[in-house]
Amino acid sequence: LSQKYLAYHGLFLPKCGYEDNIKDFKTFKVQEDDVFVITYPKSGTVWMQEIIPLLLNGGDFTPVQTIPNWERVPWLEATPALFVDKMISPRAMVSHMPYHLMPSSFFSSKAKIIYITRDPRDVLVSSFHFHRMANFLDDPGTFEEFAAKFLAGKVFYGKWADHVKSWRNPDIGDRILYIKYEEMIQDLRGVMECILCFLGKQLSEDALDRVYEHCQFKNMKHNKMSNYSLVPENFMDSSKSPFFRKGRQKKKITKGGVINYRMSFLEPVLYKKKPEISMEDKS
Ligand code: PPS
Repeated sequence: LSQKYLAYHGLFLPKCGYEDNIKDFKTFKVQEDDVFVITYPKSGTVWMQEIIPLLLNGGDFTPVQTIPNWERVPWLEATPALFVDKMISPRAMVSHMPYHLMPSSFFSSKAKIIYITRDPRDVLVSSFHFHRMANFLDDPGTFEEFAAKFLAGKVFYGKWADHVKSWRNPDIGDRILYIKYEEMIQDLRGVMECILCFLGKQLSEDALDRVYEHCQFKNMKHNKMSNYSLVPENFMDSSKSPFFRKGRQKKKITKGGVINYRMSFLEPVLYKKKPEISMEDKS
């Protein structure tokens, strides 16, 4: 284990931000109207940190324009419990934890969950570039070296497939809404309508149009409350790779390929076979 990580129930987690807070994670008191956005890293977390407050608060832009995303929709395992305890309901939080490691009170609560998945090949590429800029993570080495670690689960939060599988648990029932990053790219408005319905909220057509526009990649990229430009350079160095990098899905989806992610991401084939990664995929 590198100096930058701590071990937590078999997962590597960055010491930075987690060392002081992770001890309170398991005993965190979940409230019935909490909303959890759960992702494997690099799957659309920050995008949802922008969308959810706007859908929950009737389209009021004040929070997304004045509060950095890590306070607006805090990272549960890397934020002091005291801070989250004081948030006004309904609270929205993000987490990268696998299902079985969630706080004890989560399992019996009615808290809602929005789970986003992204094509693991794009997650890999995004994660590679994130490791280049985030100084609290290990240097990724070459793309090939990093890909080998990613496939072996020797990266923060472990294997992508283990994470996705853990959250496909029938015990969760209808408390969970599954969304794909690719669906957000293709039909963000449709996804937002679906989330509103899931959360039992409403927004006028005009307000929804404004939220839709605000949450476009080209606009979020310039929101300093969301693009991590407020974070010191020695923590995240955007000259190496910006956080808002490409914001796209892979152009070429291999037809009948090894990971036919879009066609059958629930199929066992996904978990049994290794993805083929070619050199052209790494930018
Ligand atoms: S993290 O570090 O785990 O919180 O990262 P996460 O936010 O999950 O994922 C970062 C990737 O999401 C892309 N992103 C977006 N894509 C499209 N539209 C919007 N609005 C948007 N916001 C964030 C971001 O660019 C990262 O993907 P890559 O492929 O690296 O560009």
